[in-house]
Amino acid sequence: MAPIKLNIRHLLEFITREEIDGLQEQVTKHLDSLLRRNGRGSDFLGWLDLTEPPATDITGSILETAARIRSMSEVFVVVGIGGSYLGARAVIEALSHHFAGMMNTGQTPQIVFAGQNISEDYMANLLEVLDRKDYSMAIISKSGTTTEPAIAFRLLRRHIEEKYGRKEAARRIIAITDPEKGALRAMADHEGYITYEIPGDVGGRYSVLSPVGLIPIAVAGQDILKILDGAGSMRGLTTRTGNLDENPAVLYAVIRNLLYQRGMLVEILVSYEPALHYFSEWWKQLLGESEGKEGKGIFPASVDFTTDLHSLGQYIQEGKRILFETVLDIEHPVHEVKIAPADDDSDGLNYLAGMRLHEVNRMARWGTVLAHVDGGVPNLVITVPDISEKSLGALIFFFEMACALSGYLLDVNPFDQPGVEMYKRNMFSLLGKPGFEKETLQIRKRL
Ligand code: PA5
Repeated sequence: MAPIKLNIRHLLEFITREEIDGLQEQVTKHLDSLLRRNGRGSDFLGWLDLTEPPATDITGSILETAARIRSMSEVFVVVGIGGSYLGARAVIEALSHHFAGMMNTGQTPQIVFAGQNISEDYMANLLEVLDRKDYSMAIISKSGTTTEPAIAFRLLRRHIEEKYGRKEAARRIIAITDPEKGALRAMADHEGYITYEIPGDVGGRYSVLSPVGLIPIAVAGQDILKILDGAGSMRGLTTRTGNLDENPAVLYAVIRNLLYQRGMLVEILVSYEPALHYFSEWWKQLLGESEGKEGKGIFPASVDFTTDLHSLGQYIQEGKRILFETVLDIEHPVHEVKIAPADDDSDGLNYLAGMRLHEVNRMARWGTVLAHVDGGVPNLVITVPDISEKSLGALIFFFEMACALSGYLLDVNPFDQPGVEMYKRNMFSLLGKPGFEKETLQIRKRL
């Protein structure tokens, strides 16, 4: 079974096969330099190796830690932001029961997130929950100094130490951070927390297949070995050849570049499965932080259809023609729900009797693809067999590889994010952080 298939039929009214082939040589060169590790940002290519030993030697220890944490926790708090939380959340939510919080199976800890915002009410509500539950947590920060998770961890650490005592609290805290640098590393060593390393050459948004993603996913009871297996297969497929017909990541990168050159400045990732909502959030960070720089880049957006067809659908159909859509088509749902016939047919839906909901969803998808294409929005359809560990692993590696190549085609460094520093400097100045005295005076005048 192919891990994913790209259907480009509904793009060919906007770009030609000749134009696609015209970029073959260029993209092959970029794939070569990525694999030879001599292109831009080549000191951040550790993500290419996360599916292979020695990186995977850590899985035994991760599974052991996860089993221990699961046995003593009703709730597991994942503290992190950006690349230090989105990948884990994407996978966990994709594979979880939609109403996990209401199922009370007691089999797995509920996974909750913190440090991804600075909302006082969010934190207050979380602390209220944690007062009543047995819990453990992971603090995940590569730099170990990011303000949002650092503040959340200060509050949560105090809470967990007051609840369990300092020694027991230390058994319930996992720190995932840089092998050497940062305040978190020093604190973890001092307090004796269990620690896992984020390899120095793996950037946040490319780190889901490292302990950053694997620890929370394993604690959620999901199969990290299958995820790595799926990602490993995709690694094989996307590193073997640069041929556009055999390497889907190369084809996707080329298509994005051609559409961008046509003025399609916004790419919308479309999903018809609510389980993939956070997968889209992960995807947006990956693409947005990797490409949006030097005045260039496609703006990555996402929609959950058919829900958003009743809100954003109008704009997509008839608004400014700067959009293209990448549609995720999930072939097989896990469950089967059929529409039953009704004696009186009072709702007029008997024409659907006997049909699976998935079939209705599929027809909504094709109907929308064709409508949007007719409205001037190019559509690329990516077919994925199912929402399983293996497929998600494959999809993750596929997008990582395509993103790197897309960045090279755009001639930017896809592995840095200089632009995210600006707001931090302003926030530190406004908060009066030591070392920012001059900036504090300047910026306060602007409020
Ligand atoms: O992709 C990135 O590098 C960022 O989104 C980081 O993951 C995010 O800023 C959090 O950084 P850190 O892990 O250092 O706390």
